[in-house]
Amino acid sequence: MALKDNIDRNKIPVHVAVIMDGNGRWAKQKGKERVVGHQHGVKAVREVTEAAAELGVKYLTLFAFSTENWQRPTDEVNALMSLLVTTLNAEISTLMENNIKLQTIGDLTIMPGQVRKKLMKTIDQTAANNGMTLILALSYSARWEITNAAREIARNVLDGKLDVDRIDKNLFSEYLQTKNIPDPDILVRTSGEYRISNFLLWQIAYTELYFTKKLWPDIRKQDLYEAIIDYQRRERRFGRINEQSRMNVDR
Ligand code: FPP
Repeated sequence: MALKDNIDRNKIPVHVAVIMDGNGRWAKQKGKERVVGHQHGVKAVREVTEAAAELGVKYLTLFAFSTENWQRPTDEVNALMSLLVTTLNAEISTLMENNIKLQTIGDLTIMPGQVRKKLMKTIDQTAANNGMTLILALSYSARWEITNAAREIARNVLDGKLDVDRIDKNLFSEYLQTKNIPDPDILVRTSGEYRISNFLLWQIAYTELYFTKKLWPDIRKQDLYEAIIDYQRRERRFGRINEQSRMNVDR
């Protein structure tokens, strides 16, 4: 029996989030430049995106570039930016064929103009697709996102547009980059690091965490299947006891 057949089609996670890690180490192991790891990472992006879309995952969020990544050597940053543009050019037909809508979270205002333009164009081209939404986290960090939300809320209160007593977890979520996107059901991190690295800190309150030692460029469809099978074996309780968690009550 193929691994894929072990997946319960009635319990597919709605939202899968991924910290793609280990490109640099993958390249180093092969005696190559770090950028070669990123180049091979694109194949893993394609595999995971296709596998998720085929299984009926509704949202796939990939941590592609963090706020902190701007501090990497200029050559590496530039290589990642041009890889992003090349990949968007090469994959637009795949996105259309698979009915995938592209979205981003993060501070696009500090992305190079050409990259931002390409992103906006691809977002526009795929806007009417209603299969899976592929969310690229670019120039993103959770502390940046949460601070932004707090600032915006404070401004609205000062301007008299928002009553302080209306601030609760639902309203706060509306001010985040992930507005209208359900929280991730599972967060996958590759490369054997057991950290969250400033990714979706608000949204992962009840997310199942899955870690694999494999480096990102080695990741294939089978690895996503394994993560989902592991996820499906878990009992999600959202802070309640077993009996309660089987009922579909508001979190
Ligand atoms: C982490 O590995 C990976 C990144 C910071 C970039 C991820 C980018 C890609 C997979 C390629 C392009 C992406 C898209 C969406 C087209 P690392 O460099 O931190 O590896 P290390 O921890 O081994 O140094």
